[in-house]
Amino acid sequence: MLSTRKAAFWLFLAVEQVLTAQIPLSPDYHEVSLDSYSHFGHDHGDPLQWDLDEPPAVNATGNLVFETANSLLQHWPSTRYRIGHTIVPGIVPVGTILYHGTITGPHMPTALDWVAVEPEHSMIFCNGTVESGYWHATLAVTRPMKVLYFDGNSAAKVSEGTMDTQDLVAWSEMKPEWFENELQRIQDLCKWGQQNGIDGFVRMEMNFEIMICNFTSHMELISFSNVESLRLGDDNPTDLPNDPNTMHQVFEMMHSASWRENYPGETRIILDYSGLISFYDNDLVPSLVPRHSESNTG
Ligand SMILES: *[C@@H]1O[C@H](CO)[C@@H](O)[C@H](O)[C@H]1NC(C)=O
Ligand SMILES: *[C@@H]1O[C@H](CO)[C@@H](O)[C@H](O)[C@H]1NC(C)=O
Ligand SMILES: *[C@@H]1O[C@H](CO)[C@@H](O)[C@H](O)[C@H]1NC(C)=O
Repeated sequence: MLSTRKAAFWLFLAVEQVLTAQIPLSPDYHEVSLDSYSHFGHDHGDPLQWDLDEPPAVNATGNLVFETANSLLQHWPSTRYRIGHTIVPGIVPVGTILYHGTITGPHMPTALDWVAVEPEHSMIFCNGTVESGYWHATLAVTRPMKVLYFDGNSAAKVSEGTMDTQDLVAWSEMKPEWFENELQRIQDLCKWGQQNGIDGFVRMEMNFEIMICNFTSHMELISFSNVESLRLGDDNPTDLPNDPNTMHQVFEMMHSASWRENYPGETRIILDYSGLISFYDNDLVPSLVPRHSESNTG
């Protein structure tokens, strides 16, 4: 009995000690622990003096780097701030299911080509002819696929900067006038990838997609389905389709993209944050900010 009470007493004391140790709210504690900020040697160093309503300094980029890292592989922030500034290596793990719409019949692509992470997205590329049929392939990753991710709305075919980071990797310079030159782009990216052990490139269009450098080295075919044509045509992509069936498919594509709007975003692509390179960081790379402040305000 006595020993139980003794134990309870010591337990009480121990808990009291732990709780005390976890409440660092005394003014003295702040003085001591925040002193280290003064080593940064500028006026705003001391958090006690922070004005949280003050915007970041004009040319500050730390806030942008932080926000970018917080938005990777998420559909909404990559749409809202569509011009990417970040490249990140990653892995598509074994067992991941990917989709490809073909236009030439039930044949695996022998050349460089694209896959989607959702069938609703790849289906719109099943637009062969009546003779060839409308074929949709489902593929499984069989070896860990090394990819490089371009953040932002990086597959948007516009000349205002969404493809700048790709241009720098493929061609060492930005070529906005080549924004529709997708064939040259995938060829040169894959050539660069071959030298650097990269098997594919992740981008975001209506949803996330992967440019595949070799369809047989890291994937196997699960099925080929002969589907009904969506009859999307080659008109202005913003024109809504006329027939209700196709309209439904287009909404389903938007719906499937909406699953990745916010955190955690697209989780099937595993990024290696330790390899993140930000084009906001002027110590590493020439900044893209001056070029983009022109196009963003324009
Ligand atoms: C911001 O950067 C621009 C362009 O490099 C420069 O002209 C300007 O002086 C900088 N402003 C500040 C406050 O550092
Ligand atoms: C199929 O769709 C793609 C992408 O929208 C387009 O580039 C191509 O011209 C279309 N092909 C046919 C046969 O309609
Ligand atoms: C693609 O990968 C397969 C299997 O690793 C290999 O046999 C083939 O040569 C590769 N194709 C190209 C074009 O490199």
